[in-house]
Amino acid sequence: MEINFSINGEQKVVELEYDLRLVDLLRQKFGLIGTKEGCGKGECGACTVLINSLAVNSCLVMASQVEGAEIITIEGISNGEKLDVLQQAFIDQGAVQCGFCTPGLVISLKALFIQNPHPDRLEVATAISGNLCRCTGYQRVMEAAEQVKG
Ligand code: FES
Ligand code: FES
Repeated sequence: MEINFSINGEQKVVELEYDLRLVDLLRQKFGLIGTKEGCGKGECGACTVLINSLAVNSCLVMASQVEGAEIITIEGISNGEKLDVLQQAFIDQGAVQCGFCTPGLVISLKALFIQNPHPDRLEVATAISGNLCRCTGYQRVMEAAEQVKG
């Protein structure tokens, strides 16, 4: 089947198998390996991407479902060499250790800040509640969000 959508601002038309997941399309066909696969069943958030500005687990979405959608991955939120404010805040606050969870956390927070530029701590915690981090923990991630709020 053929689908038409945009990834990180570029319009794409691709022929794909009907049972291909979005996470596989991104990683295998487009080489966008910043999007990680952890659990593969919607529990860890490592595969989070933006679909029409909403944070979505790409392991739970079939590629065929994104016809006409705008998809943004972690590779698409920076502006060339210039990091997104959230990426910079994660660095500044030491919110990254192994980094496996980081793209998903950043994308989940990006979705939150698109909707609400001044979230309170509960809203931040809720936004990242589906993103598991097994090494850094969440305190520094919360501080990164605080930095972006200003
Ligand atoms: Fe998608 Fe874990 S890999 S939620
Ligand atoms: Fe390692 Fe979060 S930084 S899992």
